[in-house]
Amino acid sequence: MTEAIGYELDGDIAILKAQNPPVNALGHAVRVGLVEGLERAERDGAKAVLIYGEGATYFAGADIREFGKPPLEPMLPGVCDRIEACPLLVVSAMHGTALGGGLEVALSTHYRIAVPATRVGLPEVLLGILPGAGGTQRLPRVAGVEAALDMITTGRHVRADEALELGILDKVEEGTPREIGLAYTRELLASGAPRRPVGEMAAPEPVDFDAVYETVLKKGRGQISPATAVRAVQAACELPFREGLARERELFMELMDTDQREGLIHAFFSERAVSKLPELKGVEPRDLNAIGVIGGGTMGAGIATAALLAGLTVTMLEMSPEAAEAAKGRISGNLQGALKRGKISAAQFETLTEQALTLATDYDALSDADLVIEAVFEEMDVKKKVFSQLDAVCKPGAVLATNTSYLDVNEIAAITSRPEDVIGLHFFSPAHVMKLLEVVVADKTAPDVVATGFALGKRLRKISVRAGVCDGFIGNRILSTYRTCADHMILDGASPYQIDKALEAFGFAMGPFAVADLAGLDIGWAVRKRKRAEGLDPRARDSSYADKLCEDGHFGQKTGKGYYDYAAGPKSRVPNPDVMPLIEAERAAQGITPRDFSDEEIVRRYMASMVNEAAKVVGEGIARRPLDVDMTLLFGYGFPRYRGGPLKWADLEGLPGLLADIRSWAEEDAYFWEPAPLLEKLVAEDRNFDDLNKEAAS
Ligand code: CAA
Repeated sequence: MTEAIGYELDGDIAILKAQNPPVNALGHAVRVGLVEGLERAERDGAKAVLIYGEGATYFAGADIREFGKPPLEPMLPGVCDRIEACPLLVVSAMHGTALGGGLEVALSTHYRIAVPATRVGLPEVLLGILPGAGGTQRLPRVAGVEAALDMITTGRHVRADEALELGILDKVEEGTPREIGLAYTRELLASGAPRRPVGEMAAPEPVDFDAVYETVLKKGRGQISPATAVRAVQAACELPFREGLARERELFMELMDTDQREGLIHAFFSERAVSKLPELKGVEPRDLNAIGVIGGGTMGAGIATAALLAGLTVTMLEMSPEAAEAAKGRISGNLQGALKRGKISAAQFETLTEQALTLATDYDALSDADLVIEAVFEEMDVKKKVFSQLDAVCKPGAVLATNTSYLDVNEIAAITSRPEDVIGLHFFSPAHVMKLLEVVVADKTAPDVVATGFALGKRLRKISVRAGVCDGFIGNRILSTYRTCADHMILDGASPYQIDKALEAFGFAMGPFAVADLAGLDIGWAVRKRKRAEGLDPRARDSSYADKLCEDGHFGQKTGKGYYDYAAGPKSRVPNPDVMPLIEAERAAQGITPRDFSDEEIVRRYMASMVNEAAKVVGEGIARRPLDVDMTLLFGYGFPRYRGGPLKWADLEGLPGLLADIRSWAEEDAYFWEPAPLLEKLVAEDRNFDDLNKEAAS
């Protein structure tokens, strides 16, 4: 027996206990242990086998780390078949999360009991694959096609009470999995319950699979695994069980070979690695209970909402009692949304708005705060005034955070007598919804202040990324470059509408011009004005057509018009007819003869500019690892998860080809397309971005 599965005989019952922390993933040793355990139980003359997991959970799935490596026998489908075919009565007792291969093992056992807090699911499509160990054939036989399609195409976790209703579980009972499992197995033996292999059950009733396939495909925005899984469930209805399993295997192997699978698994591990920083090992965060928020606009109210929902007390500081009341109104509105979605109860709503939130107009109210975040107007002088006042009133050791999206955090820190306590915490609007938090570390920021930034991110359930100080940090700096690339393509002949369409087909939730309309065109306008005032490099191409839109009062969705016209509502955008004439006039003024762009060239240029800037960001140490850039774009900028992030995309696309394109475009515009030294280095050394991620982890 391997150590991953413990074996014990309790009367007639052989007990197989999974002991493969942290999540009892079904790695090779576990699979070997399960097969050996069954053989031993049969040799020992047991009448039944009980399978359960020690520690946090029943099996949480296949071992994702083995994907892409040469397969080792016995493979999971064979193990599941072996369990199902066992001549003894086989029972699963579940707790924690029985996911993916874990639920497939359970569906191969003859009876299933679970503790009430258990969640089950087949989340494989979220990793770019489909359940490959019989899940698409067994689940519909047990729960029906409709429920199986829902669970398999969304990957959602199902609570034990619902799983019981669906027939996935036979019983739900309080206790430890071992206790409830043993009692249930004894009960089954005493009542003479027969073996009940799901594979021998009748094929389920079919539905209109073509229609479901089309709907799921459309919803996936280019992601193929959910739609492919529909075809596997279809096989459960149309083919005998064994042939259905073979079809599932075939489709599983097809998906296993895709870049989407690589991208999604990269995202899975990177979102866990992103907050694990070697520099924070052993560093304790400071206490974090009471926070202050300065400025109750959309951003400040969003931050306050997120903090309240995470159980922190919040003091909201505004300039006047009226402004403070308005801020409270915004926070209440956000919390109403949480109440409507069932995230909080009416009583909690009351506590959060009336007790956990305090309004103030005097800085003295912040003297007890553990951490203060300012979300005031984005202007250096305004920020400096705020920080001088914070320096005067905050208690020693309080963390002083700025939510600036572009400004120099070192300069802000320098105005205080305690720069080691100053940090950037860059939230994304709406802050109680968006998952990304950039933790901006300035030159003098103390390690335990960085740790506190990450602790706050974790408490607010954000994906926190460490960023260094530069104009725009990681995300907005890269955004500014790929937006510029899009603007250049417009000058040269593409339209905003073709660019949006091409990038939405690539998988972005929204194209860059639709995003600009949503964020407000005045934001980009202010940045352009600031950069021009600072002095543009004479080699940089510039354009003013977007300024003209703003000068005419068109700021995007909030004014009803921007690149698009929203007369029929925010969801039904149509091109604003004023835009193309402005662009054409600009081209004429600059003496440009427009040319055609293919959608493919648009995507290639846009992505190459993003990758090139990202490589500069990593090369300069603004992001510590390529995966930090990938997670920033995924969680803050609508980058398609199934592509893993821009640098994972670049690895999959091939760095030498990208660099060659960048060099050829540099012949037209050497300033914009200057290759990143890191990209050149990686190509010269025949390495890629993932090699850097691996080096950082070792
Ligand atoms: N394989 C390998 N490692 C895994 C894993 C898996 N299936 N699931 C989790 N881990 C690792 C995590 O990477 C993490 O490792 P580090 O501590 O080194 O970062 C550790 O286990 C703990 O995971 P979390 O931090 O995510 O812990 P959590 O308590 O927040 O969540 C969980 C636990 C709900 C199980 C979550 O980890 C999860 O959703 N895991 C993935 C489950 C899944 O997708 N299973 C299906 C696998 S595919 C499959 O089974 C294919 C098939 O059909 C054959």
